[in-house]
Amino acid sequence: MSFRTTDSTDYIEDVSPGRGGLPPRAWYAASDAASLSLNGRWRFRLSATAGAEDESFAEPGFDASGWDEVAVPGHWVLQGDGAFGAPIYTNHLYPFPVDPPYVPTENPTGDHLHTFDLPDDWPADGDAVLRFDGVESCARVWLNGEDIGEFKGSRLPHEFAVGRLLKRTGNVLAVRVHQWSSGSYLEDQDQWWLPGIFRDVALLHRPEGAASDFFVHASYDHRSGEGTLRVDSLVEGRVTVPELGIDVATGEPLTVPVEPWTAETPRLYDGVLATAGERIPLRIGFRTVVVEDGVIKVNGKRILFRGVNRHEFHPEKGRTVDLDTMRRDLVLMKQHNINAVRTSHYPPHPAFLDLCDELGLWVIDECDLETHGFVEQAWRDNPVDDDRWTPALLDRAARMVERDKNHPSVVIWSLGNEAGTGRGLTAMAEWIHDRDPDRLVHYEGDINCRDTDMYSRMYASHAEVEQIGRGLDGGTHKRRDLPFILCEYAHAMGNGPGGLSDYQRLFEKYERNQGGFVWEWIDHGIKHAELGYAYGGDFGEELHDGNFVCDGLIFPDRTPSPGLVEYKKVIEPVRIEGDGPAGTVRITNGHDFADLSHLAFEWSYQVDGETVEAGSLAVPGLAAGESAEVKLPEPPADSRGAETGWTVRALLAEDTAWATKGHEVAWAQLPVTERAPVPVAAGEQPTSRDRLIHLGPASFDARTGELRTVGAVDVTGLRLDVWRATTDNDNGASWQDDIRYGLLWQKLGLHRMRHRIDAVELGDDALTVRTRVAPAAWELGLRTVYRWTADGSRLRLTVSVTPDGEWKVPLPRLGIRFGLPSSADHVKWFGGGPGEAYPDTRAASRLGRWQSSIDDLQTPYVRPQENGARADVRWAEIGGLRIEGDPEFWFTARRWTTEQLDAAEHRTDLVPGDTVWVNLDNGQGGIGSQSCGPGPLPQYLLGAEPAEFSFTFTEINE
Ligand code: GAL
Repeated sequence: MSFRTTDSTDYIEDVSPGRGGLPPRAWYAASDAASLSLNGRWRFRLSATAGAEDESFAEPGFDASGWDEVAVPGHWVLQGDGAFGAPIYTNHLYPFPVDPPYVPTENPTGDHLHTFDLPDDWPADGDAVLRFDGVESCARVWLNGEDIGEFKGSRLPHEFAVGRLLKRTGNVLAVRVHQWSSGSYLEDQDQWWLPGIFRDVALLHRPEGAASDFFVHASYDHRSGEGTLRVDSLVEGRVTVPELGIDVATGEPLTVPVEPWTAETPRLYDGVLATAGERIPLRIGFRTVVVEDGVIKVNGKRILFRGVNRHEFHPEKGRTVDLDTMRRDLVLMKQHNINAVRTSHYPPHPAFLDLCDELGLWVIDECDLETHGFVEQAWRDNPVDDDRWTPALLDRAARMVERDKNHPSVVIWSLGNEAGTGRGLTAMAEWIHDRDPDRLVHYEGDINCRDTDMYSRMYASHAEVEQIGRGLDGGTHKRRDLPFILCEYAHAMGNGPGGLSDYQRLFEKYERNQGGFVWEWIDHGIKHAELGYAYGGDFGEELHDGNFVCDGLIFPDRTPSPGLVEYKKVIEPVRIEGDGPAGTVRITNGHDFADLSHLAFEWSYQVDGETVEAGSLAVPGLAAGESAEVKLPEPPADSRGAETGWTVRALLAEDTAWATKGHEVAWAQLPVTERAPVPVAAGEQPTSRDRLIHLGPASFDARTGELRTVGAVDVTGLRLDVWRATTDNDNGASWQDDIRYGLLWQKLGLHRMRHRIDAVELGDDALTVRTRVAPAAWELGLRTVYRWTADGSRLRLTVSVTPDGEWKVPLPRLGIRFGLPSSADHVKWFGGGPGEAYPDTRAASRLGRWQSSIDDLQTPYVRPQENGARADVRWAEIGGLRIEGDPEFWFTARRWTTEQLDAAEHRTDLVPGDTVWVNLDNGQGGIGSQSCGPGPLPQYLLGAEPAEFSFTFTEINE
């Protein structure tokens, strides 16, 4: 160890990974050696530049009583109510001039001071290690006045031997953290820039004879059913696994019959590594990962990734994520049928991987490396292609692999994300392959798979994924023989992603396509007093990428978004199909390993959406991949005229670590009898009196033909509507030059359609209002005829739409909208639910009877946009009206207008008015994934074509 005595700040811009630290090694949560958490309140002083303050604060006796305090772990910009600076969000732009390895003089620097005593029982012998699990982006450390070194590599552990410096009491730990360093050039991930000591700090006692680094090799031979265990350890010792009768020296392999570890059956064996001075608990999972016959196989079987990309994020704590939150993420994933996580784009808190081992997830562990901002200069000076940086890259690779190598859940190492290409990446891949030949290497940027074991892409279109699946994508010889994954797809920004089912079909159809990882798990909205959740720009950043940081399957508060509910349905590991009228159901076990004995099946029978009978269904305990035909019971007697169908569900038969017995894993509905035609309402003749037209239960404005009342219910502004508050996916990403419908719609003026009344005609049995609906400046329009008929109590509207002119764009929606008094605060419906659905996000929409407050119909996307439509609605009751659709319709209701929704930038901009606005749509446009990927597939677009649809309104007593 060397000591520096000057006040130099050169280390900040030095490309070397650090000085003074220990070599990386395996991480474990605890052993029988003493440890002391140094987390807590630390003294804190912020400077605007790196050299503003001298190093005297690190001297024992320094008086920091006047300093502020921060929580460690934590990010200083998220503490101090704005007094300590603010977060910055950029996608790939560096928020400082690109001149590697130099960083700005304005370099927020946080001096942290912590004083601690050793516990009374801290052993007097041995050594001690000071461990930092994560500090962004560069730290210099002193203990009791001694400079012990500095490091970079924010989401990686760094250890220092400190035993000789420790005192029983009054130890002073001083850490100077710089927001910007040469390391920042390697950490250009799409996320908030959040400096600080954001993961745990601990002091670990190292007894004489303590274990140092160790590597658990636990493979599984699916042919023999045996596992082979070999624990290599730098310090010799013995390995015991009582359950397997194993007691063997380190370095010695032993083969015994075992149950294998898989993400579906995460069988772990408790063991102990005992060296002369330390006992470390091991959790051993036996499994073997290979690429064989062009596919990734675990324990001899092809696996299918049903994955997500997970950034570490908490709406108040940033990347300081506690154990409960980590577990909550994983439990939510498991409950939603997710079986894989890519730790985008850096190794997570190390304890997260313990949880993945325990709960069962395949993990792509990704290195803390991204240099995406160099794309702006055609990748010139990219550190990954500059030998001076290679030691830093190798250091990062080693810190990840050494830390995480003992986790059965980790099956793939990823070199990093969006770092271009270069020799440094090749060096990393070579090092990793050499150090750990038993896992695979991934890097998406390696398009020719020079260094990797699989072909990986992000946001490839369905058509391209199909080509890849068929092996028609070309590419290098090596690539053609490799399996394919989508390390990112289905951009879950705002409403969406659409098209998941269509991807899933391609994963299930082609062996080579081994699934993908939805982008991404959580919206990174930062809790904000005025805005609800803040996104890029809300902290006054000079450069930012807006709400591109809110693109997760769960909202910042970790409630599932409709996208997650949809994903769960699309990837369910049991397929239930069948023939409702014939009463047969085909069950297919889509697991890769597990049989169906952990599930119980249930049938129920619905009449007009109400369950009238239910029972259990005997399904054989099918092995993975098998199917069976099962007979349903006799349907309940006579429900003539009603719409009927079966629902079959697969539920957990017993409690698991992630859900309780009865948790639903898969389901399907099999229709039996179709819905009866909606009876027409006709016979009444419209009459005109007192500037009103009267027809059956309704009155209309005599001049405009606009509906005024249905019975006692006031109705306002009923007219054709084609506009929706564009979604992030409608708007597309700014860099895309493909067709972006949101922009085309805006350009055409679909948000400012004018309604010209051409005729109000009173016929013998109908009131007919002829209109033309069109935007200023263009010749195209929609001829729209409203034909009203009624019997004594029911009012029927038939809307006929005929496009005029040449429509080259699809429509956002097609239907009517109208206002009801704000007392209409509740809705009941028979149709799809309980959550929202759109044409390409409707797999999880289930036919039934549902009810909700108007407020609860809203999906709280961080940036407000179209949301909340319910699909396939037969009828809805709201505000004293029953509305029947012919055909079924999309139902939406909200306490603000579409225009207000469109204008809102945050949820807090939405203020309920005195009207509830209801949309009844005959069609909705698909959602797609164009906020980063492809737009909606053609079959989900809503063409501007002639259309006719009807609604019957009846006043009811609710
Ligand atoms: C990818 C990138 C992710 C994220 C995503 C868009 O290109 O790897 O980090 O930026 O796009 O949200």
